[in-house]
Amino acid sequence: MSEPAARQPDPSAASSPPPPAGGAGGGAGAKPMDAIMALCKRRGFIYQASEIYGGINGFWDYGPLGAQLKKNLKEAWWQDMIMRPCWGRKGPGGEAVRCLPLETCIIQHPKVWEASGHVGGFNDVSVDCRVCKSRFRADHLTVVSVDINPFMAGEARKTFLFSGMGTPDEVKAANKKKIDKLIEANRQQEVIFTAATYLELNEEGRAACPCPECDEKKSLTEPRQFGLMFESGTGAVRGEQMKVYLRPETAQGIFVQFKNVVDTTRVKIPFGIGNTGKSFRNEITPRNFTYRSREFEQMELEFFCHPEESQAWYRFWRDFRMEWWQSLGLKGENLQLREHAKDELSHYSTGTSDVEYRFPFTAPDFGELEGVAHRGCYDLTQHQQHSGVKLEYFDTDRGEVLPNGGRRGERYLPHVIEPAAGLDRGVLAILCEAYTKDESRPSPELMKFHPRVAPIKAAVFPLVNKDGMPEIAEKLHADLTAKFWREGFIETDAKQSIGKRYARMDEAGTPFCFTIDGDTAKDQTVTVRDRDTGKQERIAIDRVVGYVAERLQ
Ligand code: GAP
Repeated sequence: MSEPAARQPDPSAASSPPPPAGGAGGGAGAKPMDAIMALCKRRGFIYQASEIYGGINGFWDYGPLGAQLKKNLKEAWWQDMIMRPCWGRKGPGGEAVRCLPLETCIIQHPKVWEASGHVGGFNDVSVDCRVCKSRFRADHLTVVSVDINPFMAGEARKTFLFSGMGTPDEVKAANKKKIDKLIEANRQQEVIFTAATYLELNEEGRAACPCPECDEKKSLTEPRQFGLMFESGTGAVRGEQMKVYLRPETAQGIFVQFKNVVDTTRVKIPFGIGNTGKSFRNEITPRNFTYRSREFEQMELEFFCHPEESQAWYRFWRDFRMEWWQSLGLKGENLQLREHAKDELSHYSTGTSDVEYRFPFTAPDFGELEGVAHRGCYDLTQHQQHSGVKLEYFDTDRGEVLPNGGRRGERYLPHVIEPAAGLDRGVLAILCEAYTKDESRPSPELMKFHPRVAPIKAAVFPLVNKDGMPEIAEKLHADLTAKFWREGFIETDAKQSIGKRYARMDEAGTPFCFTIDGDTAKDQTVTVRDRDTGKQERIAIDRVVGYVAERLQ
């Protein structure tokens, strides 16, 4: 649940989004983020929202290919978490894994957010530079003080302040040249370093702190509380409106409907409830493309279980979620599962793990893709207290055995394991992972999407526009579309050389291209070209639909 510290200033009022941290490349060996963003725009994956008006920071739209890619990822989550949870695998006690869907409102009763701790707690403290208009998270803004002769009086004693986003070591590293020069100039003197966050400084210290961006002194404002929840009002008459909030997470909708789901279905504990949809956070530092947006989509599951079984379920979900992301192509050293240290855990949590991806702009570090948290009975307890409605579950399978062989039953507040994934971050990770540069190919940039999420599943080309080839291609295109229209586009293209057509499809990430050539009419075969290897083989035309179906799994 932790995010990499904000290292980039964010002039929130600026109309265009800041470039991603790491600019052209991120850490050593990282893929070039600017090239990925350019491809996303060029091929219609992601556009800046309201672009013709200069854009709006922290908001992104998905173009035709991006919208389908995002839908495919969400669909995969829905299928593998709700409809056939964990690919039909058994739970830790050998039981079936049961999950149900729910769709809850973006706007909830304001008390929901009081109970959850979001009103009051969901606030960051920010500081602005009056000169360059940058905004920083005050708790991430570190001030390193270099004191020359700190224990002497008068002119011999000097203090130099350096500021930046991140840890003291990172700030020192960012200002290394200046600090080295200072030390060199004061070689015979005593020099000590101290560091504090902007929040820890007194008024005098804050006034002396230079802006990390423009280096101007006395330019930073006092720290200000910055509510992360977007506010709105219900009711037509201004002044009589009730203040409401756009939800900052989909999870709370599940907790407040827990009782209804138990009462209106035959579901028994253990079971999960999944909720997907838009969430909104007025992030101070929206940045790194869609990584931290102000409007984004979440896919959250709350899995309710008996407290004694909760640790086993926690481990089960943590491991499955890691495997799930791997199954969609996020493999290898760019994906990791990180167990939180004890001091990182919320007071109510006994375990949290993050599935993390090494994005080009976080490299060599990782950024959170999904958090899997053991939330205990914190949320149900909170909602029970604030609403006055009992949310306990009566478990008829527990308690002492009665003379008739039945059970007395046990009443308890279930414990909850929460795998909470970001859909937009998932799409971004998939885009970054898929982006491949290969100068030996006609189109040096290609997207190696896993076939299951690829927005275009296949393309059909007549080699030339004569000799019956267009007609055969049209029929094959129709057959493939009839079978796969739910999963993605089937393209057809008869323009330009076959090499250029393959290149266009490679850049869009189409896994399979089928070409109708002079032999097709004679022997009823076509060539199929694999996007990743460029290799071609001939297969019977009536095997094409099955060929694609097998590879979409
Ligand atoms: N209910 C728990 C919860 O919301 P979270 O870690 O704050 O936990 C879950 O959010 C996931 O939502 C994150 O792992 C991330 O993928 C995504 N997410 C959170 N804030 C985001 C933002 N500003 N932009 C894009 N995705 C975000």
